Amino acid sequence: MRIILFSGKGGVGKTTIAASTGLKLANLGYRTIVVSLDPAHSLSDSFDLTDKEKFSARGLPIKIADNLHIQEIDIQEDIDRYWGDVYRFLELLFNTTGLDEILSEELAILPGMEEVTSLLYINKYFREKEYDVLILDLPPTGESLRFVSMPVVLKWYMKKVFKTERLIMKFARPSIGRFTEIPLPDDSYFQAIENFYEKLKGVDEILLDPKITSVRIVLNPEKMVIRESQRAYMYFNLFGINVDAVILNRVIEGKEDCSFMSSWMGLQRKYIEEVHEFFSPVPIFAVPMMEGEVVGEDKLEVLSDLIYGEKDPSGVFFKEKPYEIYSENEHYVVKIRAPFVSRESVSLIKGEDSLVVRVGNFKSHIMLPRKLRGLEPAKAKIEEGYIYIRLKSSES
Ligand SMILES: Nc1ncnc2c1ncn2[C@@H]1O[C@H](COP(=O)(O)OP(=O)(O)O)[C@@H](O)[C@H]1O
Ligand SMILES: [Mg+2]
Repeated sequence: MRIILFSGKGGVGKTTIAASTGLKLANLGYRTIVVSLDPAHSLSDSFDLTDKEKFSARGLPIKIADNLHIQEIDIQEDIDRYWGDVYRFLELLFNTTGLDEILSEELAILPGMEEVTSLLYINKYFREKEYDVLILDLPPTGESLRFVSMPVVLKWYMKKVFKTERLIMKFARPSIGRFTEIPLPDDSYFQAIENFYEKLKGVDEILLDPKITSVRIVLNPEKMVIRESQRAYMYFNLFGINVDAVILNRVIEGKEDCSFMSSWMGLQRKYIEEVHEFFSPVPIFAVPMMEGEVVGEDKLEVLSDLIYGEKDPSGVFFKEKPYEIYSENEHYVVKIRAPFVSRESVSLIKGEDSLVVRVGNFKSHIMLPRKLRGLEPAKAKIEEGYIYIRLKSSES
């Protein structure tokens, strides 16, 4: 199975591109499902469904064409249908007034309902094997960190917190119960945690396998959009989820025969260049701005040809890690793939939140995680197609 995630800021065209990718895949013969968590029903709007069709589905898959289903998840319906126990657990977590302070603080970083639901569906469809391709229209990028960190966070909880907590509770309950009004979790709470974990088990391996999962970042040639996408790109990279394409949507094409057109096109040119600098070597698919909204199968099909041309959208368009950040002997090292770079001098410029690396014609922008932003680049070396940059704190 292939899983393709579309991520991007709100309004950039994620849903439209997810829909048109799904349609092309279905036309190529892949059993495809496009899943969206957007409560605004924009996926069914993309396919121009009637209100009746939209609402009668009640969050279940709707058949659009041979091989093609779409599903607009209704979290409320889902709770009743599949994940009752799971959500009961989350509800407890989100209202953990009875738990101690440190624990509730830790719990505050748990992902929200949308992310959890996305992961539950990834696992469900992966296990059921009914579809060849699952396309997921992700919530806007602001939420990406919560999404990508979910499997790691969960594992940590199961290992560290809940196992010990359960032990402590076993001993503590009889005495605490007498002195306090604080509701203590009972066994059904722990049962719910275990059910929850069972339903999510293995999803991290699915997400981290570049043969199965890849993210396509959708963006527009606009300043704010590019910044936000870069941040998302960093998160995916750090958590090891493969980004195999950047879809540069709404590129204005035409004649620069009036000041309106030439100022827009001039601005876009500048940002398109930035997109190439920031995201290369990940392939960038430029998609023109269409005349009018992209609604209905015909237009979605035209769009899908403009995005992918002759390419099969289920392919993995890129598989290498463009960069990695790891710690070594109390230092942090940024390792950047640069296969064509020779032993010229490396120039490093440290910005507020990023590192710009330049070697001859090669230039790379790396956004740094918050923890590393105060550090300064120290040594750089080039070895076997990689540039290694050591970061050190400015005091030492
Ligand atoms: N290349 C494009 N040309 C013209 N309109 C587009 C293009 N891509 C998307 N749109 C339109 O932009 C609007 C927002 O797109 P949508 O896919 O809903 O964004 P998102 O899911 O990222 O919020 C929709 O009306 C859609 O038809
Ligand atoms: Mg959308």
